[in-house]
Amino acid sequence: MIYVLCAILFASMVTCYDQDYCFASEENPYLMYGTKTAYEFVHEKPRNPEAVPYCRPVQFWMLTRHGTRFPEKKAIYSMQHLPDLRDQIINNHERRRKGRLCSEDLENLRKWTLSVFQNQAKELANQGYDDLKFMARRFKSQFPTLLNQTYSQDLYEFRFTDSERTKASAIAFAEGLFGRSSGIYFPAAVKNDTLLKAYDNCPKWKEEVGNTNKTLEEKHLFQMGPQMQALLQNVSERLGFGYKLTFVQLDEMYDMCRFDKAWNVRNISPWCAVFSKEELHLMEYREDLEYYYRTGYGNEINVKLGCPTVKDLINRFSQMENQNLHDRIQPAGIFYFSHSAALHMTLARLGIAKDREHLTHNNYNTMKSREWRTSKIGPFASNLAAVLFKCDEGDRHRVIFYLGEHLVRFDGCNVGLCSWSYIKDKFSNIAEDCNLDFCYKDRSGTQQHLSISWLTVAAFVFTAFCRQTFI
Ligand SMILES: *[C@@H]1O[C@H](CO)[C@@H](O)[C@H](O)[C@H]1NC(C)=O
Ligand SMILES: *[C@@H]1O[C@H](CO)[C@@H](O)[C@H](O)[C@H]1NC(C)=O
Ligand SMILES: *[C@@H]1O[C@H](CO)[C@@H](O)[C@H](O)[C@H]1NC(C)=O
Ligand SMILES: *[C@@H]1O[C@H](CO)[C@@H](O)[C@H](O)[C@H]1NC(C)=O
Repeated sequence: MIYVLCAILFASMVTCYDQDYCFASEENPYLMYGTKTAYEFVHEKPRNPEAVPYCRPVQFWMLTRHGTRFPEKKAIYSMQHLPDLRDQIINNHERRRKGRLCSEDLENLRKWTLSVFQNQAKELANQGYDDLKFMARRFKSQFPTLLNQTYSQDLYEFRFTDSERTKASAIAFAEGLFGRSSGIYFPAAVKNDTLLKAYDNCPKWKEEVGNTNKTLEEKHLFQMGPQMQALLQNVSERLGFGYKLTFVQLDEMYDMCRFDKAWNVRNISPWCAVFSKEELHLMEYREDLEYYYRTGYGNEINVKLGCPTVKDLINRFSQMENQNLHDRIQPAGIFYFSHSAALHMTLARLGIAKDREHLTHNNYNTMKSREWRTSKIGPFASNLAAVLFKCDEGDRHRVIFYLGEHLVRFDGCNVGLCSWSYIKDKFSNIAEDCNLDFCYKDRSGTQQHLSISWLTVAAFVFTAFCRQTFI
């Protein structure tokens, strides 16, 4: 008896030592993967037609990010290192007897193959098409009087940015609303679009925010900090390496984990087994930090760049307010297809998902329940929708905002139901003062002129000095 007990104890000690976690049998995996999160795990469940007493919806306005896509060329190139890394991990476990992945996770990794190719870079994936199609269907059943009508060009307005994936997203959304090949009018993308891509047409943003070191500073500090360094150490050991992997390798695995999951929402990606739950939370924060400064509240320029879309929303609803429903001039539905940056900046301009404190490299612990969570506000197909209601009692017009189809609980509103006059008061200044001239002024590029003038002064002084000495 005692031998049996000892044997069981020994066996369990060995297993404990060999593997601390088995992702394949995890019943409740963490699926919030920052900007590469699948919309399936984020959006609100389908709802019954929206019933606001004494009110009927009169206009639907939406700004959405494109659906699930393939990675960009550089990331696909990077992913091509993964089969090698995978072989090393398997070798570590089987030959060198290092590493602590459980056999099931290891087996899944062995079966995994890279299934994305350079020519697919940035294109919409099949799941991306479904993201938008089914989103449209849910909105349609929630607002049948607005969205369950026969298509006509005056009733519905589509606009997308100059890219394949936003165009394909618009087509998918239209299919969800009106069925296949229903003769929808899609205007050609606007070149240098200052509504849906204001940031991309703002030299100041590109020079000072875009991909600058300043934007990435908090992320870099976080990476050098104790939590991310421990993560690197723990992941490396778990995979059987006697040295620390690099952040580039970490990103290759993380990207594969989240893209695999987004492309096939019902499957597990063996690459997610690389990370513990707590580590996935840290990876999420690391990405939130990056976007907070690049497209969010971390930089005032981002907030300013949110005004064109807010202005459009306020103008549309104002015109609707003054229009007789029976001679409709304004469309019933306005659908914009863009990118996470445009959505983030619009949210920032509206004050949605704003935290009391800035996200920084050293407040991960206190920001655990932060509002700024890219998994929620910037997954694939993330969207902001606003619906204007016309009412017979109380406030004549009301507005509801939805983020990822969830009700936005705006301050000053009643469980998400806002009086339109309140919203108009709050944001009409922003709409009126919306001006992107700052994009061309006071740029850091002007420092060049500054240093040139300093050089001129220096040259003058030097010449004067020479004359004195040599003449
Ligand atoms: C749209 O309306 C038709 C009939 O008018 C109805 O059969 C259908 O279920 C409606 N679809 C949605 C999504 O509400
Ligand atoms: C778009 O912007 C580019 C670069 O700023 C410029 O060269 C081009 O003329 C613009 N195109 C249009 C149609 O305005
Ligand atoms: C940004 O940081 C990188 C690495 O720290 C450095 O090599 C590069 O020169 C920096 N760029 C600027 C514009 O400061
Ligand atoms: C890394 O492993 C150590 C020891 O097992 C553990 O205490 C720590 O919480 C882990 N760190 C992370 C970020 O998972």
